[in-house]
Amino acid sequence: MTRHTVSSKPSVQRSIRSYVLRQGRMTEAQRDAHARLLPRYGLAFSPAPLDFAQVFGRSAPTILEIGFGMGETTAEIASTHPEIDYLGIEVHAPGVGALLRRIEARALTNLRIIEHDAVEVLTAMIAPQTLAGIHVFFPDPWPKKRHHKRRLIQVELAGLMASRLVPGGYLHLATDWQDYADWMLDVLAQVPALANTAEAFAPRPAYRPLTKFERRGLRLGHAVRDLVFRRV
Ligand SMILES: C[S@@+](CC[C@H](N)C(=O)[O-])C[C@H]1O[C@@H](n2cnc3c(N)ncnc32)[C@H](O)[C@@H]1O
Repeated sequence: MTRHTVSSKPSVQRSIRSYVLRQGRMTEAQRDAHARLLPRYGLAFSPAPLDFAQVFGRSAPTILEIGFGMGETTAEIASTHPEIDYLGIEVHAPGVGALLRRIEARALTNLRIIEHDAVEVLTAMIAPQTLAGIHVFFPDPWPKKRHHKRRLIQVELAGLMASRLVPGGYLHLATDWQDYADWMLDVLAQVPALANTAEAFAPRPAYRPLTKFERRGLRLGHAVRDLVFRRV
C-alpha cells in the first residue's frame, strides 16, 4: 500500500526544518477528505523523479507550489488556469484535507498534492529543468534572529529551485514581512541562474489572488511584496 503521510524518517538527513509539525486539530470534514481523496489526488513521496505526463495524463506546463497552507489560493489559481498543471506541497495534514475538499468541490483535474517536506520532494521527485514555475506564498517568516536559519528561502534551496525550472521558467515568492522580503531579495541575488524581472520587488502578477488576510493587512497599511525571478 502506498503511504501518503509525512515520513518520520526523512530520506535526506536534514537537521534544520522550515516548519514545526503541529499535531491534530483536523476537522471531521478535513479528516474525511484526507482519508477518501488523498489516494486519488495525492502522490506518495518516492525517491524517483515524477513523470508529469503520466501523473496528469497529458502534456502541459507544470507549476509547483511550496507550502499551500489551507489551499485557497492554490485552488483558485488552478481553477482559473485549466491549461496548466499544478503540484501542491504541504506538510500540514489539516491543510491537505482542506485543499482536497476544494479539489472535489471544484472538480479540479489539474492539481495534485504531495504531503511531504518540499526540500526532499524537490531533491528527489522533480527532475532538473522540468517546471514552468514555482510559487512560494507567505512562507513562515521566522521573525526571531535565532530562527532565521529555519527560513525556507535560503541560498541552497533557491539554487535547487532554479535547477528544477526550465530556462525562462519563473520563481514567484510573496511575503508581508518586510525583513523577510529583503532577505529573499538578498538570497535570490546570490543565485546566478536566476534573474530578477523587476528592479527589486515586482508588481503582483494577476494570477495571484489577494488573500483575505492580505486584504486586511493592506487596509492596515502592511505592504505585501512579490518577487518574480526567471531562470536564465
Ligand atoms: C505561513 S503558511 C502560508 C500558507 C499559504 N501559502 C498562504 O499563503 O496562506 C506556510 C506554510 O508552509 C508550510 N511549509 C513550511 N515549510 C515547508 C516545507 N519544507 N515543505 C512543505 N511545506 C512547508 C507550512 O506547513 C505552512 O502551512
